Amino acid sequence: MTMLQQPPIVTENKAMTTTDARSFPPEFLFGAATAAYQIEGAAHEDGRTDSIWDAFSRVPGAVLGAENGDVACDHYHRYRDDVAMMKDLGLQTYRFSTSWSRVQPDGGPVNPKGIDFYSRLVDELLGAGIKPWLTLYHWDLPQALEEKGGWANRDTAALFRDYALNVHDALGDRVGVWTTLNEPWCSSFLSYTGGVHAPGRQSPRDGVAAAHHLLLGHGLTIEALRDRDPKLELGITLNLTVAKPADPTRAGDVDAARRIDGQFNRVFLDPIFRGSYPEDVLQDVAQFGLTDFIQAGDLAQISQPIDTLGVNYYHGELVSDRPAEHPLLAQAPTSRPTRSAFPAADGVFNHPQGLPLTAMEWEVQPDGLRELLVHVNTEYAAPAGTSLYVTENGAAFDDVVAADGSVPDPRRTEFLKAHLGAVLDAIDEGVGVKGYFYWSLMDNYEWAWGYDKRFGIVRVDYETQKRTVKDSGLAYAEIIRDRALS
Ligand code: NOJ
Repeated sequence: MTMLQQPPIVTENKAMTTTDARSFPPEFLFGAATAAYQIEGAAHEDGRTDSIWDAFSRVPGAVLGAENGDVACDHYHRYRDDVAMMKDLGLQTYRFSTSWSRVQPDGGPVNPKGIDFYSRLVDELLGAGIKPWLTLYHWDLPQALEEKGGWANRDTAALFRDYALNVHDALGDRVGVWTTLNEPWCSSFLSYTGGVHAPGRQSPRDGVAAAHHLLLGHGLTIEALRDRDPKLELGITLNLTVAKPADPTRAGDVDAARRIDGQFNRVFLDPIFRGSYPEDVLQDVAQFGLTDFIQAGDLAQISQPIDTLGVNYYHGELVSDRPAEHPLLAQAPTSRPTRSAFPAADGVFNHPQGLPLTAMEWEVQPDGLRELLVHVNTEYAAPAGTSLYVTENGAAFDDVVAADGSVPDPRRTEFLKAHLGAVLDAIDEGVGVKGYFYWSLMDNYEWAWGYDKRFGIVRVDYETQKRTVKDSGLAYAEIIRDRALS
């Protein structure tokens, strides 16, 4: 194997030289992830009706270039070829989501044609030896339910449970891993308070209501699916972060880090794993009425035991209650929409560290992934016997197609290897991380950014729908084949 003949490498965290490739545990799963609205297209076919993203993308100014998911990667029609491509890459598992408004147009009765698409997809995956990893909600609420109040309406939680059971009726015999929600922080605060994502509301009260009702929907669904089949692996995916004070000696910075940790991590992890909201977060959002939405029994419902916790990690946060002052830092992006999306995070400033940036202007901070996995495992997952998976990690870059048609993307390959290295570092520290999904399998609709940001290890030419495996995809295939990082 050529990998073992390469020169010695120095691993950053351990400052030691080794000639050995670093192997992944035998049971570790390598995968890639996508989401329904971002890739499927066929937005008006076979009975599907609008989700909140169809509606939001029509709002002038909401999405860069007014782009939408009408066609996206046309995966709805090309799923067979896409699965064949996954097989060629050697993927062991594929994380995808089902579209509520395809399965139940307008949130109404089940649409046989809609659910049949997922049934065919699952068969195709199983036929290719790829384990399906299903996410029930990746942000695309039926617009008809939004018109009845959306996630700010408590009824949506029970409707979500019913939808989950409908999907299970059709796929439960073949899909073993079920994730309730993807990144509820985004589908609550970013969507109902920040206004940056669908449905574009700008209400702190609706944001906290949505967060609680999403959690409730999660808990109801876990219980219902568990009753159906105790063998299912059930869980949730959260976008977690590592928040640190820019100056650990300044009280304002320490408090800024506490607030960010509260809004991204603890406001979801604590109810799920501990059956309570953190006291400080409750105080932070007291004026927006979170407690008004909590009814007796809700927290017990939300804290149903889960088998898997999916961690989505892109970067950490170095924060302060003051803007960055260093002249170079001041030129760098100091704030992102996320800063104002959570009512209690107003007045928190991101302090860039001068690290390389992706096209999203996110700093590349691989060691944050190790740190996060160790922390989440110690505090939440290990005591609960819950397995940890990295369900998303990836980078957007402005890829250029070379004259020979290949897509050289060395920064994405470097990013991938560095983060897989961080996963191995966490495993070395005793964290039983069970798998990693690169985001994303292919370039796709990056929400409010439209098609401008390319995260894929596969390039999509949106004019022709041609797929080209990028160099990073070839590198990932090699890592998967060798089950080692050289
Ligand atoms: C989080 C989301 O789950 C996914 O939909 C999005 O495209 C990526 N992160 C990149 O922003």
